[in-house]
Amino acid sequence: MDTTKTMFAENCLAGRVAFVTGGASGIGLGISHTLADAGAKVVVASRKLENIEKTRDDIIAKGGQALAIQLDVRDYDSVSRAVEQTVAEFGGLDIMIANAAGNFVAPTAEMSANAWRTVIDIDLNGTFHCCRAAYSALKASEFGGRIIAISTMRAMEGWPGCAHAGAAKAGIMSLMRSLATEWGPDGIRCNTVAPGPIDGTEGVRRIYEEKGRLATEIASVPLGRMGQVSDIANAIVYLAGPGGDYITGTDLVVDGGRDRKRVVVSQNAPAVA
Ligand code: NAP
Ligand code: COA
Repeated sequence: MDTTKTMFAENCLAGRVAFVTGGASGIGLGISHTLADAGAKVVVASRKLENIEKTRDDIIAKGGQALAIQLDVRDYDSVSRAVEQTVAEFGGLDIMIANAAGNFVAPTAEMSANAWRTVIDIDLNGTFHCCRAAYSALKASEFGGRIIAISTMRAMEGWPGCAHAGAAKAGIMSLMRSLATEWGPDGIRCNTVAPGPIDGTEGVRRIYEEKGRLATEIASVPLGRMGQVSDIANAIVYLAGPGGDYITGTDLVVDGGRDRKRVVVSQNAPAVA
C-alpha cells in the first residue's frame, strides 16, 4: 500500500512527528504506515496494547520510527500523558490525527443514555482531548502544527440508526472550524478528512455489511465502488505536509462523490406535500 512513494516527494514528512489515535486498525492503521513511509516519526495510540505494539514493530521493521502508547481518548489525563511522552521521546509533536471512534447501529428510540454518551465521549470529547492536550506542542512546531480529525458527510445529512455518531462527527467538524480560527495565528491548521465507505474496515462491517446495506451504499457512490484505506491515508499526507500549508478550517471529502450524489438526488426529489 506504499503509494506515497509515487504520489509525494520521498520523505516529504521527514523531521515531523505524528500522533495517530486508533492507529492500529482499519483506516488508522493505513494512516500510521503511510505517515511513516513518508518519513514521519509515528505514535500509534489506542486501548489494545497488542495491536499498537504490533503496528509499532511493523513500522520499525521496515526502517521507520514509531512508539506505541496505550490510552483511552475519553480520559484527558491519559491523552495528556501520551502527548508528554511523545515530546519527551521524539522531541516534539507536529501532526495530531484524531481518528479513534466508536459506532454501532442503534435506533434512537431504543438507544440507552449510556450508549449515546459512550459514542459522544469517544468521538467528540476524545477529539477535543487530543486537540487540547496537543496545543502547546503543535504551536511550537517548526512546520506549523496540523490537526486532522476524521469526520463523515453522513453527519450533515441525518444518519438514521447512528444519531450518536452523526451528532459527534458534526460536533467534530464544528470544533475544527472553531480551532482553525482560534489557533490559526499560532500556525496550527485544523481540518477534517471525510471518508466515504472504505473497503475492509470495521465501520463498513458494522454499519453496512451487518445490516445488509452494502449494495445500496455502493450504489450511492458515483464512482461505483468503495474507497481504499490508501485513499484516506494519502489525503492525510497531503494535508499534513507542505500541500496543506494554506488549508485550514475545511473538510476534505474523499468519498467517490457520494455526498454530491445525495445532494443531486435530494434536489431532484419530488416535492413532498
Ligand atoms: P476501527 O478500525 O474500528 O477504528 C477505530 C479505532 O479507534 C480502533 O483502532 C480503536 O482501537 C480506536 N478506539 C476506539 N475507542 C477508543 C478509545 N476510547 N480510546 C482510544 N482509541 C479508541 O474503524 P474504522 O472503520 O477504521 O474507522 C476509523 C475512523 O474513520 C473513525 O473515526 C470512523 O468514524 C471514520 N470513518 C470510517 C468510515 C469507514 O468506511 N470505515 C467512513 C467514514 C468515517 P482500540 O480498540 O485499540 O482502542
Ligand atoms: N446497540 C445498542 N447499544 C449498544 C451497542 C449496540 N450494538 N453496543 C454497545 N451499546 C451500548 C451498551 O449496551 C452500553 O449501554 P448500557 O450501559 O445502557 O447497556 C453502552 O453502549 C456502552 O457499551 P460498552 O460495551 O460498555 O462500551 P465500551 O466503552 O466497552 O465500547 C463501543 C465502546 C460500544 C463503541 C465499542 O463498540 C467499541 O469499542 N468500538 C470501537 C470500534 C468501532 O466502533 N469501530 C467503528 C468505527 S466507525
